[in-house]
Amino acid sequence: MRLFRRAFIAIGLSLLWATAVPTAAEAADKEAATQVAAADAKAEYAANGEQTCLKCHDKAPATNILHTKHAVKGDARTPFANHQCESCHGASPQHTRKGAEGEKRAPPTVTFGPKASTPVEEQNKVCEGCHENSARISWKGSQHQFAGVACVSCHDLHTPRDPVLSKTSQPEVCFNCHKQQRAELHKPSHHPVIEGKVGCAECHNPHGSPTDKLLSGITVNDTCYQCHAEKRGPFLWEHGPVREDCTICHTPHGSVQPALLKNRAPFLCQQCHQIGHHPFGARGDTDLAGFQPQLVGKACLNCHQQVHGSNHPSGVRNMR
Ligand code: HEC
Ligand code: HEC
Ligand code: HEC
Ligand code: HEC
Ligand code: HEC
Ligand code: HEC
Ligand code: HEC
Ligand code: HEC
Ligand code: HEC
Ligand code: HEC
Repeated sequence: MRLFRRAFIAIGLSLLWATAVPTAAEAADKEAATQVAAADAKAEYAANGEQTCLKCHDKAPATNILHTKHAVKGDARTPFANHQCESCHGASPQHTRKGAEGEKRAPPTVTFGPKASTPVEEQNKVCEGCHENSARISWKGSQHQFAGVACVSCHDLHTPRDPVLSKTSQPEVCFNCHKQQRAELHKPSHHPVIEGKVGCAECHNPHGSPTDKLLSGITVNDTCYQCHAEKRGPFLWEHGPVREDCTICHTPHGSVQPALLKNRAPFLCQQCHQIGHHPFGARGDTDLAGFQPQLVGKACLNCHQQVHGSNHPSGVRNMR
């Protein structure tokens, strides 16, 4: 009993210690916050907030931001609950100040877009300040971050509805840079992405992913099982390549072969199988009408229909 009590005291003390003494990370956070506060106090934000800006920028697209989630003043996390326009564009007295006659107006501190004078990294920092949460935990080091893609290469903030957030308008945003996928998705057999039924972001995480190719699942197959759960099994008789990687046989975006196949049976199957051991009639012999069953119609699939695996007690040959 004494031992227990001592243990409790020890735990209690260590909890007390943990709450009383800030960790190094907490201290760093605090310091950063103090620095931001100090910078904020020094910065010359417009006296009348967004009203200052809206005096001149009284038309769309500038005013569209007022109809977005960023402009919800009642939500303390939003730009409009803070320095309004200048939460994103930075304190910009040089821009709002009345210049000398004929003098060119200096741009705001932060401008966005491909032609902006603000470097991409600085543009992204503005967004990351508020959005560096679990949803974008893999952004740093992701293919997009590494290639210098800006948040606003995909996101459009001065519109009432950001096109990249909707399945129907999202593909066009991606196609701006990924032309090959546009072509693939127009092939006869394709995932219905152009049709607005499947979004790129259902298979990919554009903000980064621990996988190759920015996949949304932890493997290719896990990505596919999100919608094709029946292919997960378990099966009594598994088919090796199916377990391994769906893209051994399928291409994800589009194909000229039916069912998004990379190749047609029998060629698809013959990459791995020779059919020499087949029983009579399936060995390549012609039947009475002169057909070779593994080469015509659905070829191998005429007989081996359960190519993804079988649960039939005698389905060892993936035939039922
Ligand atoms: C006195 C008028 C005036 C005020 C006040 C004003 N602007 Fe401007 N702003 C302009 C003019 C003029 C331009 C340049 C013409 C153009 O491209 O629209 C401009 C351009 C911009 C641009 C585009 C810059 C670029 O290089 O792409 C942004 C962003 C901007 N303003 C934001 C703001 C913000 C934020 C505020 C408030 C802090 C503000 N403006 C206040 C007149 C004003
Ligand atoms: C959440 C961040 C954010 C806030 C808040 C914000 N902007 Fe912007 N602004 C941007 C981004 C990003 C762009 C680049 C174009 C785009 O994404 O729509 C931009 C572009 C602009 C432009 C150039 C538009 C063009 O295409 O010619 C002007 C002008 C502008 N903003 C003014 C304002 C004004 C005025 C406010 C406040 C009423 C404001 N912005 C608030 C992020 C913001
Ligand atoms: C001052 C903090 C702040 C800044 C700066 C900021 N955001 Fe936001 N953003 C928010 C908040 C808060 C929301 C609303 C989140 C919610 O409703 O859950 C939001 C929402 C969004 C959404 C979702 C919009 C929707 O309609 O669902 C996107 C996309 C977004 N922000 C992108 C950006 C980008 C890109 C930038 C940089 C140009 C940026 N934000 C800058 C705070 C910020
Ligand atoms: C390659 C395009 C692309 C880039 C670059 C990108 N996003 Fe996104 N973002 C998207 C897509 C697509 C969605 C919708 C995701 C979904 O539907 O699952 C989204 C959703 C969001 C949302 C709303 C939902 C959420 O996840 O909270 C926020 C906020 C956001 N992005 C912020 C950012 C910020 C900040 C950056 C830069 C660090 C960024 N995005 C860069 C494509 C992009
Ligand atoms: C501004 C241009 C741009 C936009 C817009 C864009 N990307 Fe990218 N994307 C890139 C670049 C650059 C790379 C890295 C180089 C490469 O591998 O092509 C990349 C890489 C990728 C990769 C990884 C490729 C690999 O080989 O690992 C995927 C997946 C991807 N993007 C999907 C998307 C999706 C989905 C969208 C739309 C939500 C999108 N991208 C929008 C430019 C863009
Ligand atoms: C059904 C799921 C799915 C959808 C929807 C999807 N992709 Fe993919 N994508 C994948 C898979 C899986 C891979 C990896 C292929 C591989 O490794 O052979 C991939 C690869 C990529 C690559 C890298 C290509 C390469 O050859 O390295 C890019 C870029 C890409 N996708 C962009 C997009 C864009 C843009 C969209 C929407 C217009 C999209 N994807 C929609 C599953 C999908
Ligand atoms: C977000 C859901 C979703 C994900 C994730 C997904 N698919 Fe699909 N898949 C669909 C839809 C929807 C269809 C079209 C079904 C229809 O037309 O009846 C489809 C159709 C198919 C088809 C049949 C095409 C045809 O023409 O008959 C194949 C093969 C396929 N998907 C393979 C995959 C593979 C491989 C993956 C993983 C890389 C994957 N799917 C990921 C939704 C998804
Ligand atoms: C990437 C190589 C690969 C491809 C492509 C492939 N298979 Fe297989 N297949 C295997 C392997 C490995 C096995 C052995 C055991 C297993 O199922 O894991 C197998 C087993 C089989 C079996 C059961 C054999 C037995 O001994 O019970 C049949 C039937 C079969 N495959 C048919 C097909 C058909 C039909 C196709 C084309 C649609 C095909 N395979 C494509 C690799 C492949
Ligand atoms: C060994 C080659 C092979 C592999 C690996 C493979 N498939 Fe298939 N898949 C096929 C063939 C062949 C068809 C066409 C069947 C037909 O025409 O009857 C097909 C058809 C499909 C279809 C459409 C018809 C149906 O059965 O629903 C979907 C969806 C599908 N596959 C998903 C997947 C998924 C998900 C994976 C990974 C878990 C996968 N496939 C792995 C060969 C393969
Ligand atoms: C007319 C029906 C039929 C067609 C068409 C057919 N098979 Fe078979 N296959 C069989 C039967 C029946 C067996 C079982 C033989 C046994 O149990 O000894 C078999 C066995 C197999 C096996 C396992 C035995 C071995 O040889 O290792 C594989 C692998 C196989 N087939 C692949 C294929 C491929 C690949 C094709 C297409 C090129 C194909 N089959 C076309 C009926 C067929």
